[in-house]
Amino acid sequence: MDLSKYKNVTYLDHPLLKHKITKLRDKNTPTNEFRTIVKEIAFIEGYEALRDLPTHLREVETPIEKTMQPSVSRKGICFVPILRAGLGMEDGMLELVPGATCGHIGLYRNEETHEPVEYYCKLPDDIANRHIYLIDPMLATGGSACGAVDILRRHGAKQISFICIIAAPEGVARFCEAHPDIPLYVGALDRELNDKAYICPGLGDCGDRIFGTVNKPHS
Ligand code: PRP
Ligand code: URA
Repeated sequence: MDLSKYKNVTYLDHPLLKHKITKLRDKNTPTNEFRTIVKEIAFIEGYEALRDLPTHLREVETPIEKTMQPSVSRKGICFVPILRAGLGMEDGMLELVPGATCGHIGLYRNEETHEPVEYYCKLPDDIANRHIYLIDPMLATGGSACGAVDILRRHGAKQISFICIIAAPEGVARFCEAHPDIPLYVGALDRELNDKAYICPGLGDCGDRIFGTVNKPHS
């Protein structure tokens, strides 16, 4: 897929990020390690996505003298993970901005249609005044990401960015065509979706792997 036609996409290609995503893909990576790596990746991707974070000047006194220096305000932002798997990225984002407000949107995919079903939503009242960083490791059909953006817009959100770890070309196309104005950060772009709408090669079901709900064979 030629990503250059989508001006809103930032493809992150740092070798350390690629290394961590490879570990996530490995079916032998255990739950504890998987969780840690998802969090670390969120930190790396979030660092890039928050590049335009506004700063204000505040006075600080060094051992030498008083000076006005930039400081980040946590007030104008809100992190919104899409449950469940997005929760795995929340702590990584919060390491970047520890005092940030978080909203939560619960969506699961209908197994037959693969379209998202909403089951939870809690967002701050002043969402219109915040930059919303929507987070979810997987962009497959794009249904969940687009559904979450619709919910955010319904609640008044104006400025949104979306951060994912692995994307399928189908999801990128659907998202970018629906929301060319929303910056999209992608850690890996995979080949295609299979007939169950899983990303290939992907990493399997991300929520199951983060929360250990996948059925493991008895050893
Ligand atoms: C996963 C993932 C995304 C969605 C992506 O969630 O975390 O939200 O699938 O697929 P899409 O782009 O085709 O919508 P899932 O529905 O499996 O729910 P879970 O996180 O609760 O397991
Ligand atoms: N959701 C996942 O967790 N994995 C996929 O491959 C697609 C959707």
